[in-house]
Amino acid sequence: MKSTQLRSMFFNFFTEQGHALVPSSSLIPADDPTLLFTNAGMNQFKDVFLGKEKRSYPRAVSIQRCIRAGGKHNDLDNVGFTARHLTFFEMMGNFSFGDYFKESAITYAWEFLTKTIELERDKIFVSVFEKDQESYDIWRRIIGISPERIIRLGAKDNFWQMGDTGPCGPCTELYYDRGASWGCQQSSCAPGCDCGRFLEIWNLVFMQYNRQKDGTDLLLAQTGVDTGMGLERLCSVVQNAPSVYETDLFLPIIHRIEDLTGHHYITAEPQIKAAFRVLADHIRSSTCAIADGCTPAADGRGYVLRKIIRRAALFAQKLSFEPFFPHLVDGAIETLGPVYQEIPERRQTIITILEQETAQFSRNLMRGTNLLERYFAEHGIAAPVSGTMAFTLYDTYGFPLELMQVLAHEQGTSIDQKGFEKEMDRQRNVSKHHQEAIQLAVNANVATEFTGYDSVEEETTISALYSLEGTPLSSVKAHESCWVVTVKSPFYVAGGGQINDEGWIIKNDCMMPLEDLKKQGSAIACKVTPVVALTCGDLVTLRVNRVQRLHTMNNHTATHLLQSALVKVFGTEVRQSGSLVSPDYLRFDFSCSQQATEAHIDAVENIVNEKIRENIPLTIRWMTLQSARDEGVIAFFGEKYNPERVRVVTVPGFSAELCGGTHVRATGDIGIFKIIEVTALSAGNRRIVAVTGQKALELFQRLGHITKHLSIAFKVPESDIVPVIEKQRVQLKETQHELALSRKQVLQQLMPQWAQDAQIIRDIPYNIIVLEKLSSEELRGAVELLAAHRAGLWIIISTDPQSAHISYVINLAHQYTHRASLKELLEKIKVLGMRGNCKNNMIQGGASALPEGLQPIIEDWLKQQ
Ligand code: SER
Repeated sequence: MKSTQLRSMFFNFFTEQGHALVPSSSLIPADDPTLLFTNAGMNQFKDVFLGKEKRSYPRAVSIQRCIRAGGKHNDLDNVGFTARHLTFFEMMGNFSFGDYFKESAITYAWEFLTKTIELERDKIFVSVFEKDQESYDIWRRIIGISPERIIRLGAKDNFWQMGDTGPCGPCTELYYDRGASWGCQQSSCAPGCDCGRFLEIWNLVFMQYNRQKDGTDLLLAQTGVDTGMGLERLCSVVQNAPSVYETDLFLPIIHRIEDLTGHHYITAEPQIKAAFRVLADHIRSSTCAIADGCTPAADGRGYVLRKIIRRAALFAQKLSFEPFFPHLVDGAIETLGPVYQEIPERRQTIITILEQETAQFSRNLMRGTNLLERYFAEHGIAAPVSGTMAFTLYDTYGFPLELMQVLAHEQGTSIDQKGFEKEMDRQRNVSKHHQEAIQLAVNANVATEFTGYDSVEEETTISALYSLEGTPLSSVKAHESCWVVTVKSPFYVAGGGQINDEGWIIKNDCMMPLEDLKKQGSAIACKVTPVVALTCGDLVTLRVNRVQRLHTMNNHTATHLLQSALVKVFGTEVRQSGSLVSPDYLRFDFSCSQQATEAHIDAVENIVNEKIRENIPLTIRWMTLQSARDEGVIAFFGEKYNPERVRVVTVPGFSAELCGGTHVRATGDIGIFKIIEVTALSAGNRRIVAVTGQKALELFQRLGHITKHLSIAFKVPESDIVPVIEKQRVQLKETQHELALSRKQVLQQLMPQWAQDAQIIRDIPYNIIVLEKLSSEELRGAVELLAAHRAGLWIIISTDPQSAHISYVINLAHQYTHRASLKELLEKIKVLGMRGNCKNNMIQGGASALPEGLQPIIEDWLKQQ
């Protein structure tokens, strides 16, 4: 049975049981800082389980693309070495939101496996949570499984949680027995054993709790069911494949690797086979992550992607010297492309990003190796390589620990592993700390009506107050900073790239500026330091800073125009990867494999400004996510959308985006749009910064003043400024070169006199020469000339009439260095404030003033030689 058949049988089975078919959400979790990547089918339903969001259906079915390569569920290091672990997989799942519970969930799973796809009943084992007697009884009495095939396990195996916090509950798992020949042959081998005989295929989670930060579990208002079955594992069972990698989901990639490297998978040595598997898995995860808008980065999910690509690049070296990993993309597209159309659409971007990232990695490996060699040269090999050094190599250069160990071993030393772990822990703590934000203990019925789309001022009542630590208060004294929640609010809370509104809370004519804003559940909370006491129930006025809001609106609508203009110029491969809409400027990050030339940027500016001049009135509509998708409306991966009700902002005939932001009435309000910066952020990822309206006008005025000033200073018409400056720059360089030559000639003429004027102490001729305005290069050149003229101790000092600072150089002829140490001399002249570096037979340095008393120090020192 092919994987495509399994997909449709699964959907058919559950839709026939009244489940709504919900498409997979993006791998980039919507608005959930607790997750790096979507790691389970239930992620997109998290708020539904928590009772924060309602759907029009009480039960759903989906096949969700997932990545487990970081955070709570992380399989990265196992991939390649087992028959079943993957970083990317597709999770088949059925869900109940306050609808059916344990009995139906278990019955559906049993029927699908044994009747629909006809797995042998006797090969299925189950595990239940040790405290969950109800599930045990259902398996035993209703399904009729014999007791020796029901195993009770503890929380480690049979209590599922999405992350450190959030929905969780006991679970029951279905295992497929692949037969004794697969296992460890121990008499204790049973479901839960890691040997691979009992393949865990389906997890049925009974959502009952919401885990808090302190580890306590609060009961959810309604129970739910969340199930998850890996499509790849199920395929390996129905296709009777020895591992997931021998299923039709992976074979096209495996064959591609064979074609590109000449290795043969089936007959390969275990190490080579592991490399095949790593590459086959990692190409799927990196392809899908990039298709969903993720790009390699130094932190967060971008860093996880980077680690996956680097790991792949290392394993690829075991198979070929050629950097072939990016060429596996077409293998991944062969099976995933027909299911997820965004992947083939972004093929070129994915390949470009993989090529650039792998090339960068091999440069880093080279740099890392050099760094390590230098470290050995400087520190010797007596002690192990320090944890800090190992961590820098690992973190900054992506240098794998194992490779460092090999290099250290070659030198006869090792790596301080404990120190390395300590640095790793430190970094983990730092990133954990970043994620933790103070939560206000907002009561579920405290909600704020947002009125800011239509008004910028609201008279309303304080409905709740909280301390900065998040505890509810009935009143606060003056000057005590706090969070204020009101019944209505015109304040826009940062979202969709648009930053928080600025504004004031006004009570009894006292204006208290907003210090921060946030959404907590359905409440909008404003941070203020009140100048008068505040009490729940107080009547207050909330006033938005109109100027800031207007400029922000200009930039927000301009961002939409920019996105559509980019698609017009570069094609549909353009994907937004981030944005910032502030009153002063807008910033738009997007991925695109093509270069952005000046002509491209001009074209983008022209299109946006044309749309501004057309003064098109915007339309705002609310609809379901599905209808918006059907209309081809652009959505941004990082945003959380309510599938039942999304807001669509349209510039008719040109742009339509899902967006909760504030916008101008008609495009003409924006005035003018000007791009001020285009940069490359990382492989295939670009950033545009632009200004609009008043800010654009200010920019033109500034540029106008500069041009005028230059035109007067260079006495040329404005149109000639660039070639004239360019010409003068070349002339200046030539003149400087000629000047340097003449100065050198002058020095050469003075040289014999300086050599002749030398004093001699203990056979060593010496002279101190003071000159003006020599560059450090000239100083070195001069002292070398003098040394070539006569062996001795030569000190040349360069002063600068404009500042007291001096620079100097000291040279001692090689023939004296065995008896006189320049390092010792450097120590002595330090008391005069002369800093410097001693290298070979030369000291070069500076001081903040011309040193007095240098001559006696030099002479004393010479006398001691
Ligand atoms: N959320 C559970 C899991 O990921 C079941 O879907 O295993």
